[in-house]
Amino acid sequence: MDQAEYLRKLLAERKGQKISAKSAETIAVISGKGGVGKSNLSLNLSLSLLERNKKVLLIDLDIGMGNIDVLLGESSRYSLADLLQQEMSFQKAMTAGPLGLQYISGGSGLNSIIELNEQKWSFFSRELEELLDKYDYVIFDMGAGLTKEQLPFVVSSTHILVVATPEPTSLMDAYSAMKHITLNKKDLRFHVLMNRCLHQREGELAFSKLSKTMRTFLQQRISYLGNVPEDPLVRKAVTSQLPFVISHPHSKLSKSIYRVADAFLHTEEKRVEAKEASFLNKLSAFFKRG
Ligand SMILES: Nc1ncnc2c1ncn2[C@@H]1O[C@H](COP(=O)(O)OP(=O)(O)OP(=O)(O)O)[C@@H](O)[C@H]1O
Ligand SMILES: [Mg+2]
Repeated sequence: MDQAEYLRKLLAERKGQKISAKSAETIAVISGKGGVGKSNLSLNLSLSLLERNKKVLLIDLDIGMGNIDVLLGESSRYSLADLLQQEMSFQKAMTAGPLGLQYISGGSGLNSIIELNEQKWSFFSRELEELLDKYDYVIFDMGAGLTKEQLPFVVSSTHILVVATPEPTSLMDAYSAMKHITLNKKDLRFHVLMNRCLHQREGELAFSKLSKTMRTFLQQRISYLGNVPEDPLVRKAVTSQLPFVISHPHSKLSKSIYRVADAFLHTEEKRVEAKEASFLNKLSAFFKRG
């Protein structure tokens, strides 16, 4: 923290408003159709951001069906459910992955967040606030089909990364998911990543169809994060339980993920200092406790 930042924090604290020097950017990775690559892309994006010296925490919010453990050949001792139910610290619930990645596995029982009593909620929100101060990025890997417990995490996030493939069914489902989210909250930042593209043009065409539909029917702009090629290396990485950015860092596939990481770093630089409510405030409001 430089001197100016320190003084600003001190002043704000004197005025009784607790502000953090810099809170993590949160990225919710969603899709409409399942099995389009969310978990693989979330994991490899997290590792790419780590390689760019960012502090990253990956949270598996695909409750009950979490895959990050399986993709890494790990078996987490604790999960988000333990954190919520037993007032466990985020630190204790984390598992270490490659390159110093820290992640929290899904487990089962996110529905308990709706039932947290005041004491447990205040423990959870204090922990979350500290956590957001420590990281540059917190990435949520969501399941296919958003539940009412997952939705608040999506609409409260700084960015929503929508993974789709160029197939019409996947585009239709991505549109439906964004429509559902937009009906809950307006003015969100949707970024689309086209996975499993046979060539670049295929991804661009698919995005332009999706973007036109979003503009026409929802008056919502979306941005294009680029495409990820169809590549047998993904399956190989899943089978060998070694992420492809580690096993094949120079492949076209890995480079497509580095471009996504760089795009996020770029928006981080450009983002105007948080005039908007913090992730935690938005989350609390959504759970009607704020
Ligand atoms: N770019 C790609 N090239 C080839 N195969 C891919 C690619 N991306 C994903 N796959 C295949 O799709 C499978 C599913 O990927 P992944 O588990 O990441 O999807 P998901 O969206 O997280 O699924 P779920 O909705 O069940 O959580 C992978 O195991 C792999 O076989
Ligand atoms: Mg998944």
